[in-house]
Amino acid sequence: MNSVTHIRDLGVEGVHRVIEQALTWKRTDPGQHLAGKLLGMVFFNPSLRTRTSFEAAMIRGGGHAVVLEVGGGVWKLEHNDVRMDQDKTEHLREAVPVLGRYLDALAVRSFSQGGGDAEDEADAVVNGFAQYSSVPVISMESAREHPCQGLADLLTLRERFGNLKGLPLTLSWAPHIKPLPKAVPNSFLLTAAAMGCEVRVAHPQGYDLYGPVLAEAKELAQEAGGSVDVTGSQKVALAGSVALYAKAWGPSDPSAFVSDSNRDWMPTLEHFDSMSPEAVLMHCLPVRRDLEVAAEVLDSARSAVIDEAENRFHVQRVLLHRALQGEI
Ligand code: CP
Repeated sequence: MNSVTHIRDLGVEGVHRVIEQALTWKRTDPGQHLAGKLLGMVFFNPSLRTRTSFEAAMIRGGGHAVVLEVGGGVWKLEHNDVRMDQDKTEHLREAVPVLGRYLDALAVRSFSQGGGDAEDEADAVVNGFAQYSSVPVISMESAREHPCQGLADLLTLRERFGNLKGLPLTLSWAPHIKPLPKAVPNSFLLTAAAMGCEVRVAHPQGYDLYGPVLAEAKELAQEAGGSVDVTGSQKVALAGSVALYAKAWGPSDPSAFVSDSNRDWMPTLEHFDSMSPEAVLMHCLPVRRDLEVAAEVLDSARSAVIDEAENRFHVQRVLLHRALQGEI
């Protein structure tokens, strides 16, 4: 169906292809490559970058986007096969095929419901869309992954550092007042592994990424000539790294969450002392300043966060083009 709901839909070769094409199109505008095409953007959750960058990609490419806010201007949608006697009015089994009769592609944002790793792994909403859709489906972040973010992050590194194979990167847990989902760290891990980077994952005890995601990342790394290692020491991970990807995520046991814990894990300029001289701070945004990342880092030349956000546009126009051409 040429859907991209997870990094596995692209694989090592597909991830390389999207990033290289995005790099080329960033330098040479592809023009009206989406002329006459209609994208339906289905939001179960809010967004700033995702909504704007997808709409911009469609409009600049000569197409159009229809925004559907579930539970706002659009019926609440059920995805479980249950007797529908609660507040949800329409099932994905009808809603998704109907949208496919009007539109050329669908994009979906449906965050984790906070039910734990196994529930996130099942990724029921985005997988339901992919299952019932007659047109390509692109994830705008689901419970398990945020593939467009991972691709934009690696495009940002590709621009700055050239060949990514063997590049030492740290994905570091960061403090927060909420137990955030793992979709972004999962996607950075999987996409960096697919690009053959030396990925170092650092987190405090109890904040492990889910086993099947780590196993998938290790398989991708092996195929791409990179590596994935996990440590409980942020200091060990950062030594010699060229990027510090800071991201809060919740503990493996949702009930074990402690608000604003491990505050020394919040990146400050001092954290860069042991890193490569050209090392950058990465974050998907939105970021809580002086909680998740020190303002002094976000306001410094170390920060690559605005470039990452811009690159969402560039990778998404490639994904939209390839999906609509049947070339994922
Ligand atoms: N990074 C990201 O997905 O941003 P939004 O939540 O604003 O779309």
